[in-house]
Amino acid sequence: MEISPFLQKESPEPLYSQLYHWIKKEVEEGRLLPGMKMPSIRQLTTHLKVSRNTVVSAYEQLQSEGYLESVPKSGIWVAEIEKPSLYSIEKVQPIRSECKSSSEFLVNFEYGNVDLNKFPVKQWKKCLSDAVDQENNWLFEYSEKQGEFALRQEISTYLLHSRGVRCVPEQIVVTSGTQNSIALICRLLELQEKIVAMEEPGYSGVRSVFKDQGCCIEPVPLEKDGISIEHFETSSAKAAYVTPSHQFPFGMVLSISKRIQLLKWAYQTGGYIIEDDYDGEFRYRGQPIPSLKSLDEEEKVIYLGTFSKSFLPSVRLSYIVLPPSLMVQYSKKFADYNQSVSPIIQKAIALFMQSGEFEKHIRRMRKLYQRKHQALLKSIEQYMGTRVKIVGEKSGLHILLKLNNVSNSELIEEGLQKGVKVYSPVRFWLNPSSESNSYIMLGFGGLSIEEIDNGVQLLASCFP
Ligand SMILES: Cc1ncc(COP(=O)(O)O)c(C=O)c1O
Repeated sequence: MEISPFLQKESPEPLYSQLYHWIKKEVEEGRLLPGMKMPSIRQLTTHLKVSRNTVVSAYEQLQSEGYLESVPKSGIWVAEIEKPSLYSIEKVQPIRSECKSSSEFLVNFEYGNVDLNKFPVKQWKKCLSDAVDQENNWLFEYSEKQGEFALRQEISTYLLHSRGVRCVPEQIVVTSGTQNSIALICRLLELQEKIVAMEEPGYSGVRSVFKDQGCCIEPVPLEKDGISIEHFETSSAKAAYVTPSHQFPFGMVLSISKRIQLLKWAYQTGGYIIEDDYDGEFRYRGQPIPSLKSLDEEEKVIYLGTFSKSFLPSVRLSYIVLPPSLMVQYSKKFADYNQSVSPIIQKAIALFMQSGEFEKHIRRMRKLYQRKHQALLKSIEQYMGTRVKIVGEKSGLHILLKLNNVSNSELIEEGLQKGVKVYSPVRFWLNPSSESNSYIMLGFGGLSIEEIDNGVQLLASCFP
């Protein structure tokens, strides 16, 4: 192990003492852990460009105080110490202490997971390996700033066929996640201190970025057919973030008349619509819903896509389709920004798309998620009956349940005891009300049909 203490040669404190204090603090604060091997005296002398005596004196002092121990023929090791309470690091509990860890749950309805059993591991590995094997050296360099051209080309073809979006690769910017896309858009549109309208409830992951970028969030209520358009008549928002194909988290589809009115609002006021089409691929009944962007004749919609649902969240790959009129500003403002997604991943996805595997994968997954979705609805009907109401359209990888006569916290608590974990969607409200606590959220993408049935049955047994 190498260590790099900051030693000040000009300081009145002798170097051996500085080194001693630095190591002591690292051990006490848990950055150097018991059982870690320290660099040898010779290695540290060379590395720090100090005299051998400096290192020997510091090590000797630390050994005599029990911070380090020397084992003959083995080396110098960090010793086990009783930590002073001042430095004891409180462990952050991801879930309440009486809860089981996620692997202990029989069924975890966590949102965000995708099905891994049917994931085409072999084909994906081949694309990764082919991406690295490309004889061109460019792959080992930085990516093109906007993203690999081959990938942007594939995305533009895919968007035309599957989401009705007409765009050229030059309009696409590859990003490392939707939050990254939003931060970029905030800077591009100069939204700091400006009003951004958002569905209420809406995706908190995006709302946090708007807030952190200094935007003022204007929550817009939802109606049966999506965001309230009436609200925009008096709004001075500069941008509106919406999830028209599958509202997050309620799941309704924005009606065609509201789409047209929302576009009109943008055209008349000069505002921008940020369309987050995060799971538009997974609609199980009726025609696929074309994107709002496909209706945008005056180029006021900024379209966001992600590979997190359609492929894997772990590739951290998303993209923005910018209206041509914003490309000049983009080039000026971001000329100095490097692309944050590895060109190897980008190339591998491009190969996966070129080979036809991506569309095949989506078709396969759509059928699979449809079966899971049907199984989930059937189990809910069978075990819960009128005690809940299913909220949302027939699409996506999650549903909400509206509870009758029980609060979500009671049900969540009771579920934890029985080994089934469900979630409160309350954080998706900017201004939660008591109504917000009458829902639970079930993500089902990563569960098998048996787990879904089992989980719903368990949860049903938790109702008072
Ligand atoms: C509304 C919404 N947008 C986008 C995403 C995906 O975000 P990312 O691209 O960062 O994985 C999610 C994922 O949960 C989501 O719920």
